[in-house]
Amino acid sequence: MPQRRVRRAIFPAAGLGTRFLPITKAQPKEMLPLVDKPTIQYGVEEAIAAGIEQVIMVTGGGKRAIVDHFDRSLDLEFYLRERDRADLLQILAEVDALSDRVDLNYVQQRQPLGLGHAVWTARRLVEGEACAVLLADDVILGTVPVLKQLIDAHVETGATVLAVRRVAPDEVSRYGIVATGVRNGRLHEVLDTVEKPPLKEAPSDLAIFGRYVLTPEVLTALDSTDPGAGREIQLTDAIKSTIAGGRVVAVEFEGEYYDTGTIAGYLKSNLALALQRDDLREEMLAVIRELVSSAEVRA
Ligand code: G1P
Repeated sequence: MPQRRVRRAIFPAAGLGTRFLPITKAQPKEMLPLVDKPTIQYGVEEAIAAGIEQVIMVTGGGKRAIVDHFDRSLDLEFYLRERDRADLLQILAEVDALSDRVDLNYVQQRQPLGLGHAVWTARRLVEGEACAVLLADDVILGTVPVLKQLIDAHVETGATVLAVRRVAPDEVSRYGIVATGVRNGRLHEVLDTVEKPPLKEAPSDLAIFGRYVLTPEVLTALDSTDPGAGREIQLTDAIKSTIAGGRVVAVEFEGEYYDTGTIAGYLKSNLALALQRDDLREEMLAVIRELVSSAEVRA
């Protein structure tokens, strides 16, 4: 049996972030802060913790800030050293250390044709090996990184692996939804996938969250996947076409999910993460109580 490893992770990061306009007019949405770190950094940290050796960022125009964030800033280091700010230099060193632990590569998606197309853009860099895909909008924190949970399932089964979780009925049409067969603990056999179905057409309430391990067959299927939902080339459709030939499984993952893809979800994620920080909790609780009571007075 060939050794099953997953060394590479594709990070689609070419979206225009239109839900967040105007802040995303001249700034990538991946750089929006969660407390004091850009959203995409949580994803890179997760990939490293899952044993990924190479991150392939699929970017589009106007994403220079992502490249700069993971690069050294010699000017800033010089400025802080001159002022003896070892504390702040330490923060920069922590970001810098990420680039030491993983190779960061960038490929350009020259047209925004969908998630499937973004993954396909990175095909030459994954060289026929199973690879991970991480959607940085979906921040998932837990003891075992979700990507590690998926890679373990891939090593066990050799299959394409999807991260799934049950969602409320009013959320079903926002996600790719799976139909499942045989179940073994948290692992489900996948029988079908549907991208963003209306509730009444959804085969279950198990939704795909933004973590995948893809076998090379999925990348090959993307060569000939036609546009689907929203007239975009959908990763879900390419995965669906491999269910018969190869195998696809889903893992009901463990971890805290923070949806940063909508404005309300993003603001909630910031508050939730701030409340987990020892240096911010008390102050934030006081702020929240004050805001809630003044909103109640107005209502
Ligand atoms: C993408 C996928 C969808 C998945 C979702 C998870 O959709 O196409 O299948 O459920 O990510 O966040 P998007 O949210 O990019 O429209």
